[in-house]
Amino acid sequence: MPGATHSPGADALDLLLTRHSPWPLIEPIPSDAELQRAFAAAMCAPDHGALRPWRFVLVRGAARERLGDLFVQAARLRDPLGDAERFRRKALVAPLLVAVVAHLQPHPKVPEIEQTVATGAAAMNLLNALHLQGYGCFWVSGPNAYDPTVHAGLGLAANEQLLGFVYVGTPQHRDKQPPARAGIAPHVREWHGPGN
Ligand SMILES: Cc1cc2nc3c(=O)[nH]c(=O)nc-3n(C[C@H](O)[C@H](O)[C@H](O)COP(=O)(O)O)c2cc1C
Repeated sequence: MPGATHSPGADALDLLLTRHSPWPLIEPIPSDAELQRAFAAAMCAPDHGALRPWRFVLVRGAARERLGDLFVQAARLRDPLGDAERFRRKALVAPLLVAVVAHLQPHPKVPEIEQTVATGAAAMNLLNALHLQGYGCFWVSGPNAYDPTVHAGLGLAANEQLLGFVYVGTPQHRDKQPPARAGIAPHVREWHGPGN
């Protein structure tokens, strides 16, 4: 397994607690079988109404060059006088990119926010599953995520939102320790009743 944090005796929660966003990410990328397992984990996300609103678009190999062209084209339209070329690199810095898309449908009981959150949960399962298989992921957004030219180029429909790109690969620095995490205290409290 290519990951750094898979020490003998570690259980699933130990491994989950080492999840982080390593950089840089290099070859190899997960095999198709490993990717299938990771996307199967994404399908386990909580999902009101069983809408399965998430869509994942894989971009690898030579397709990343074409994504780079698209990023440059979009940047030129956003800012004709800016340095559009610098956006090309964003398609090439990792061996595999997964666009995370929320496919939003009108529903009487499931507002769009819930569909967006479910898509985020599915993406998080994907990141965790790839981490558990020894790979690294780094989720980014930036101007490309919100750009209509990028959306059109990726083939998104009008009711689809791009929640960013997950860079996937093998952490170059496998021995690097995961970052220390902040304490839970400011983020968790117990409620005993109104006014408590
Ligand atoms: C939706 C979303 C978009 C993000 N976009 C960016 C981004 O554009 N650039 C960036 O440096 N980090 C971005 N991040 C944060 C990184 O993915 C990462 O979580 C952060 O660098 C902290 O590292 P850690 O995951 O190891 O704690 C984004 C995270 C999320 C959930």
